[in-house]
Amino acid sequence: MISLKSIKGIGVCRWKKQHLQGCRFVLFADIDAAVKLLLKLKVDYKQMTGQDYKAGCPPSENSVVPDNGPTADGADDEDTVNPWSVSTTNAKGVDYDKLIVRFGSSKVDKELVDRIERVSGQKPHRFLRRGIFFSHRDMHQVLDAYEKHKSFYLYTGRGPSSEAMHVGHLIPFIFTKWLQDVFDIPLVIQLTDDEKYLWKDLTLEDCHRFAVENAKDIIACGFDINKTFIFSDLDYMGSLPEFYRNVVKIQKHVTFNQVKGIFGFTDSDCIGKISFPAIQAAPSFSNSFPQIFGGRHDIQCLIPCAIDQDPYFRMTRDVAPRIGYPKPALLHSTFFPALQGAQTKMSASDANSSIFLTDTPKQIKNKVNKHAFSGGKDTVEEHRKYGGNADVDVSFMYLTFFLEDDEKLEKIRQDYTSGALLTGELKKLLIETLQPMIAGHQERRKQVTDDTVKQFMTPRPLNFNI
Ligand code: TRP
Repeated sequence: MISLKSIKGIGVCRWKKQHLQGCRFVLFADIDAAVKLLLKLKVDYKQMTGQDYKAGCPPSENSVVPDNGPTADGADDEDTVNPWSVSTTNAKGVDYDKLIVRFGSSKVDKELVDRIERVSGQKPHRFLRRGIFFSHRDMHQVLDAYEKHKSFYLYTGRGPSSEAMHVGHLIPFIFTKWLQDVFDIPLVIQLTDDEKYLWKDLTLEDCHRFAVENAKDIIACGFDINKTFIFSDLDYMGSLPEFYRNVVKIQKHVTFNQVKGIFGFTDSDCIGKISFPAIQAAPSFSNSFPQIFGGRHDIQCLIPCAIDQDPYFRMTRDVAPRIGYPKPALLHSTFFPALQGAQTKMSASDANSSIFLTDTPKQIKNKVNKHAFSGGKDTVEEHRKYGGNADVDVSFMYLTFFLEDDEKLEKIRQDYTSGALLTGELKKLLIETLQPMIAGHQERRKQVTDDTVKQFMTPRPLNFNI
């Protein structure tokens, strides 16, 4: 933290008459240096916090710091993680431990996983057991309150940029469904069709249509209709005054400098983008949903999301106490790797990097066999002799996401590493895991009628006892 105490040294010169003459020169030089220091500190302060320095007003929590920057050794400055791009040069993927330090969040450690198990009375989801939801903010606080019978609600979302969702998109929803079931709490899902209109070359109508289409895939994850509200920003913002009121409150408490610092916006970004973060922040506050929570503004929110969304919620957590609301808690997931390797996440805009929820069993098989990056050796002989590298093997990584059986997974890892299991055999295991999973999803999606979507997307009370 910057300290302005250093300029207090100005007072050191004693104001005794007989010293005044001799001191004069020194004093002016001191003042000059102190003023320069003060000005420099003010500039530094503004750069780091995005706010003008005001005496007696400390900056709030890492508010405007985009993140804590690369660590001192500079080793991870190749990892790019923000809402628009994710990349690293490391075949094992992003260094998530360093990301925790950079973002100032906390690790989901064994103690927390054990505690979730105790409090919920359920075996922790494999995403928790395997470090896929690896980072959090304030989870202990949420559990403390829950133990005292103070409930909370879940908030997650999706930017509907196309009709095509891939398996990576399901990760936060699969986990959110589990949280909803084990804690028996309401859930709001924001579809940011406005965001996609602002960022992509798409029409408003298309974005809205994608929102409704994506809602079907989300519903197919099995959410409880009595406890889930899904909304399109384009519909909901205009229909519920309470939501927009929160957006405006948030907008008043974040400066252009701050969003520039957090999101890297520039002077030539349209003003829609600049104010959008307030719209993603608003569902974190319970009074944005009066139909669910009455007028209550104090119900704790928990946001499961991929770590790239954290900048939005760092901003939200900074604003919350200043507008009289609780800060949302967070659970962050790692990225779902592209087929070609963990240097980037799976992206719907690159068909070869993705397994889509609409893919046929044959397409799944071909994509895995053809594109899934392998940590195996070039020849069977070498592989048998030296073994494969599961840490960079995309098929193995996908199995850690989707294969439920811990013992089976560990056996696969050992056999692959020793060379007993060949790349083709590992891929076959993945294909056999993905095919029924995706077929099941397609089956459930078919059952989702327009009427069901409408019900999920209608503002209404949910089963929830405050
Ligand atoms: N911005 C997110 C995206 O592009 C969508 C989103 C909105 C979201 N609200 C959220 C994601 C809350 C996670 C949690 O996909």
